[in-house]
Amino acid sequence: MGTAEQSAHRTSRRSFLVKGAALGAGTLAAGRLLAAPSAAIASGGLTKGDAAILRFLAAAEIIETDIWQQYNELAGIQDAADGEVPGGSGNPAYTAAVAVLDEDMAQYIHDNTDDEISHGAFINAYLQAHGAQTVNLDAFRTLPSSTATGAQQIGRLTNLMQLTINTSFWTRYRSDSQNPDLGEVLPNAVPGLAAGEHPAIPRTDADLAPPDHLQAIANTAGFHFAWIEQGGTSLYAGLAQRVTHSEVLRILLSIGGSEIMHFQTWQDKAGNAPPLTDPNTGLTFPDLNADGELTQTNLIMPEPTPFLDRKFPIVSIIRPTQTDGAAMGTVRAFTNDGLFIGQSAEFFALITRLAQAADAARHGT
Ligand SMILES: [Fe+2]
Ligand SMILES: [Fe+2]
Repeated sequence: MGTAEQSAHRTSRRSFLVKGAALGAGTLAAGRLLAAPSAAIASGGLTKGDAAILRFLAAAEIIETDIWQQYNELAGIQDAADGEVPGGSGNPAYTAAVAVLDEDMAQYIHDNTDDEISHGAFINAYLQAHGAQTVNLDAFRTLPSSTATGAQQIGRLTNLMQLTINTSFWTRYRSDSQNPDLGEVLPNAVPGLAAGEHPAIPRTDADLAPPDHLQAIANTAGFHFAWIEQGGTSLYAGLAQRVTHSEVLRILLSIGGSEIMHFQTWQDKAGNAPPLTDPNTGLTFPDLNADGELTQTNLIMPEPTPFLDRKFPIVSIIRPTQTDGAAMGTVRAFTNDGLFIGQSAEFFALITRLAQAADAARHGT
């Protein structure tokens, strides 16, 4: 890369990463934190690598928030009494279809949204307390909203209407012999979701019927919820291996644990998605209990599996936890999922730079 190009990159990076910038939906929470940053936190210092890891995680959390906010506007609890998840007015038909998976889905969607807002706001506030650059993706909130009843008409970071969802996480956590960290590829539990492009929210009110079409959209959301959070589960474990300061490790373990709790909840609910075929698209949700343990719905505890080396006994673990390229792996997974369909080249350049910087971090340096 030539000097002029490097200089252009630095300029564009500065314009998108605004130190101490507003955090969108998380502004209130961040404001509370920033009002009185503790002396202990402010004096801790961050290595360059720690800051890079936290910045990538802040970006990932802002992206997660954008996803969950869209789900919450249509199928969650909007503008709760505490005002922690503002926006949207709910879509009764879609909310009912999502509630087929569990009657408490609206509460869980609200709380997952609230959690993501808090993750992004906390990490940015922690970076700021250390004088490090924070992350603001507001310039990229350019993708269209659903026009179905209930959704706000605002620009989005992510696209939930053309998803291609890899459901191998489902079989990965049920296999007692295969682990992607050992180079193995697990099959999709719902092959139809891994092919083609599928909406996980109603795109317009025309998607609210017929019933099996709307239920297919709700089922898609159910598996997408688990997909998002299994990704967070692995990302935090992968990047934790690269941090230096013990307090940064504490942050990654503590927030990462909340991602694990999300994933565990959602994979239990996805197992309740009724088997059906979408009459409009042909997308089929198979009976996951018809084909043995690799897809059995109630096997929601991580099946013991080979870890590190097959010479050891199998063990119940989250997976994958490979650290090399964990951040770029997340960017690729988000991209392959269709979340960024419609995003600009500048967005991909920024998110790639953030991921590469995180992946370049080394423990102890
Ligand atoms: Fe999160
Ligand atoms: Fe999450």
